[in-house]
Amino acid sequence: MLLGTAWYPEQWPESRWDADLALMQSAGIRMVRIGEFAWSRIEPAEGHYDLDWMDRAITLAARHSIFTVLATPTDAPPAWLTREYPDTLRVDEQGRRAAHGTRRQFSYTSPRYRDLARQVVEKMALRFGHNPNVIGWQIGNEYTEDSFDDYSLQLFHEWLKARYKTLDSLNAHWTTAYWSETYDGWDEIPFGRGRQNPGLLLDYKRFVSDQWRDFQRNQLKAIRAHSAPWQFITTNLGGLGWADRFDRYEISQDLDLISWDDYVGQGHLDPYRNGATHDLVRGWKRRNFWVMEMQPGAVDWAPVSNSLDRGETRAMVWEAIGHGADAVAFWQWRSALNGQEQYHGTLVGPDGEPEPLYQEILQVGKEFAKAAAALENTTPVSEVAILHDYDSRWAIDFQPFSERYDQIKVLLDYYRPLQDLAQSVDIVNPYARLDGYKLVVAPSLNVIPDALATHLLDYVRRGGRLALGPRSGMKDEYNSLNPQRQPGPLAAPLGGRVEQFYALLKDVPVSGAWGEGNATIWAELLSARTPDTQVVVRYGASNGWLDGKPAVITRRVGKGDLTYIGALFDPQVMRSAVKWMAERAGVHAAFGPVPEGVEVCRRMNANRTVFVLINHSSKRVEVHLPTAMFDVLNSTRGVQVKGLDPNAVAVLQAEKRNRD
Ligand code: GAL
Repeated sequence: MLLGTAWYPEQWPESRWDADLALMQSAGIRMVRIGEFAWSRIEPAEGHYDLDWMDRAITLAARHSIFTVLATPTDAPPAWLTREYPDTLRVDEQGRRAAHGTRRQFSYTSPRYRDLARQVVEKMALRFGHNPNVIGWQIGNEYTEDSFDDYSLQLFHEWLKARYKTLDSLNAHWTTAYWSETYDGWDEIPFGRGRQNPGLLLDYKRFVSDQWRDFQRNQLKAIRAHSAPWQFITTNLGGLGWADRFDRYEISQDLDLISWDDYVGQGHLDPYRNGATHDLVRGWKRRNFWVMEMQPGAVDWAPVSNSLDRGETRAMVWEAIGHGADAVAFWQWRSALNGQEQYHGTLVGPDGEPEPLYQEILQVGKEFAKAAAALENTTPVSEVAILHDYDSRWAIDFQPFSERYDQIKVLLDYYRPLQDLAQSVDIVNPYARLDGYKLVVAPSLNVIPDALATHLLDYVRRGGRLALGPRSGMKDEYNSLNPQRQPGPLAAPLGGRVEQFYALLKDVPVSGAWGEGNATIWAELLSARTPDTQVVVRYGASNGWLDGKPAVITRRVGKGDLTYIGALFDPQVMRSAVKWMAERAGVHAAFGPVPEGVEVCRRMNANRTVFVLINHSSKRVEVHLPTAMFDVLNSTRGVQVKGLDPNAVAVLQAEKRNRD
């Protein structure tokens, strides 16, 4: 477990480095990430490299027992590069070329840019690829913008050619007879943007994902060729976790380690949303991850960049750890004297003196040292999974049908009651192995190609419980409507289907096995078409079409069951829905009852179970532990009851029962 920070030695006189590193060391910081915006220092003129300063920074950090993660500088090309090679600049959706002066102004497909990036990365890898103080690499920084330049369009055409082979096939899958879109030449096909054909839009997103993966692979190869196998390679994924500019399952495939940048922005920590984001990130590779950037108190980019309260940053760190982070690093160490982010939260001010938050981080540093052994090689293990899929997210967002349908909110509406009940939830890609889960919920699985239907059905037949939410199974992999209606290839095994869907302006009353309440935002009229398909919930009187009709149906399939939920519901119905599903599936709470506002996280391995409890409420509470436990942060054995102040954290290790 490592506590770390982003450090920019290139912004400070070398004479100051030692004082900064000493302050880091006293706070328990054991990792710095350096380099991601330092291209102009690393290569001040084309082909002239200066890595000596970096070497000295790494060596000095090591003297303070601080490891380095080395980031490649390709997110911020130097001015000489832009001047010499304006063709490397990205073009935005409106056709405007970017200019120098901020960052991310490069085109991700530009062969010249990739080549220049490869050269600088190669130099770094040759120099530091076996440096024992460099534990890993970060490629670039928060891949973000695609580019609408001519070369990218040409690549898109090649990509489409490889996928469809013939224009006839592409025209058929996209139904280009619609609005006279039929293509007679590959070069007639435009970028996917605006109100283009849905098949084209979905393929464009996949193309963008592939291009970012290639962009990453270019640097990955350069690093791998010259680095020791024990150095990991990651990238810090941004966009507050949920961004979907490209498919993050895909980008994750080539990386050794996943890391992401966790910012609250305006407001305060929403433990469910933030916890769910960690679970999402853990699902990208189904492994523990790092938080490569976390806000120290405040950001500088929110409408109101308020600070987290005293104790809240520590709670945020421990929430990350509880959900499977093995390292947390702050962005950034010290306020740069000039530059675009002068006001951003830091641990040390422009004067080089600690900010008030420094003391809190110092406490976290001590706690990390105490908890490291207990948490080593442990990971969250869940009985419940939520399915999350980029194809489906894109497909729905291209044609939302109701601006009220927010897919992240829909997912979180399931997540909250599931987390309360099971106290551990995975969020995974629908193609992932589902064997270990007692219950799987797919909130808006819009795109269900036949292969996915087979995979999901296998899980159910072998005893799994799968619940599909509204809008599921409407589309195939080409973003075409399924002619057999929702849930497409799963309609037959379900023994029922969606007869019609309705975007709601007003709530609709519902009643049934999940109690009484309201459907909201979205309602689908379902039919049960086999005698053993049961109706679980029905609509009350509303638009006439829905009146008395099924809103939720379920059917036993093989050893498991398949449930279709045709609407979004109010929080109370959601709670009983989740309870109903969890009881049938035999899902247990990871820990047991806790007072409201207390979050339970569980990490385990074959030998140990460790709980991280966090009191997110504003009251002091007492938690009664299910068995006596070891209080890791206080080194107390046999704890039965644990008192927690607001924002307080407890790390508790279940004590082994004596079997004799
Ligand atoms: C991140 C970015 C950092 C810094 C930070 C400010 O998205 O990676 O470089 O800009 O935001 O919150």
